[in-house]
Amino acid sequence: MTDLRLARREVRVRAPGKVNLSLRVGPRDDDGYHRLSTVFQAVSVFEEIAARPADDLRVSVLGPEAHRVPTGDDNLALRAARLLAAHTGVDDGVHLRITKTVPVAGGMAGGSADAAAALVACDAFWGTGLPREELAELAATLGADVPFLLMGQIAVGTGRGDVLTPALGRGDYHWAFGVRAQGLSTPAVFDAFDALYPDPQVPDLDSEVALMQALRAGDPVAVGALLHNDLQQAAVELCPELVETLAVAEDAGALGVVVSGSGPTVAALGRSRQHALALAAAMTAAGVVDSVLTASGPVTGARVLPGSDAL
Ligand code: C5P
Repeated sequence: MTDLRLARREVRVRAPGKVNLSLRVGPRDDDGYHRLSTVFQAVSVFEEIAARPADDLRVSVLGPEAHRVPTGDDNLALRAARLLAAHTGVDDGVHLRITKTVPVAGGMAGGSADAAAALVACDAFWGTGLPREELAELAATLGADVPFLLMGQIAVGTGRGDVLTPALGRGDYHWAFGVRAQGLSTPAVFDAFDALYPDPQVPDLDSEVALMQALRAGDPVAVGALLHNDLQQAAVELCPELVETLAVAEDAGALGVVVSGSGPTVAALGRSRQHALALAAAMTAAGVVDSVLTASGPVTGARVLPGSDAL
């Protein structure tokens, strides 16, 4: 490449957010993490990262919620870049420009999506070409949800949520998400779970059999009826207004309604794309959310976008 082309090089990567169709939480282990079993679905609410040349490692954030994202050492995309550089011995810089769409601190894994996107973006930008399995191992050290956002689609997660088995599914699922401006801290929700349930059962994958069957059959009515989240009550304790949001989405005829992950985003499953829009409109009209998003799933995990100029 010419110097000019090198200086203008850009790799763009998109990573999805997620909703937990089922989340069953067991006891906290010695590492501070809860053992859990979960069924993830990646949905079409995307974080986009553009990697560009720079002398050092740096990050900037765009989008209406950008001011709520730290850009210092705590930033998950920056941590991902630093981890990949250390792992591969690269000492080049990169500027990661993040365009955020996934709600911040909303239980849809926006920060983890940034980490997954940054791993894929830097791997392409620096030409390190790691196999996906190796990227997934690095991803697991950045956060429990990060490996799933690399993989995407539908998967069962065990351990901390980071031990993944891809799951078969048919059809598209159409969601309305009710978003609150004030997020919830994931550790605080897990602490509230511990206070509510001092002696939880070790989660058992047998509990997910009916949901896996419904997914294989492509039956959104059955999937809707089986949506489940053990963290929901803990999220409601910290944000009692969620009760009303859940009720509004149910009354509007959602096939199922559940708090997404550690919340406070409420996920309502529609019968169709149109119905998901109607569910979003019902939540807005009732004044029970600060904003709404509609999306469908499953979608693929973190991927380089066509037209990117990698090494
Ligand atoms: O892995 P991640 O950094 O996303 O997790 C954030 C926090 O959520 C952890 O520090 C922990 O308090 C809690 N957590 C947990 N059990 C899990 C996943 C997350 O207690 N399986």
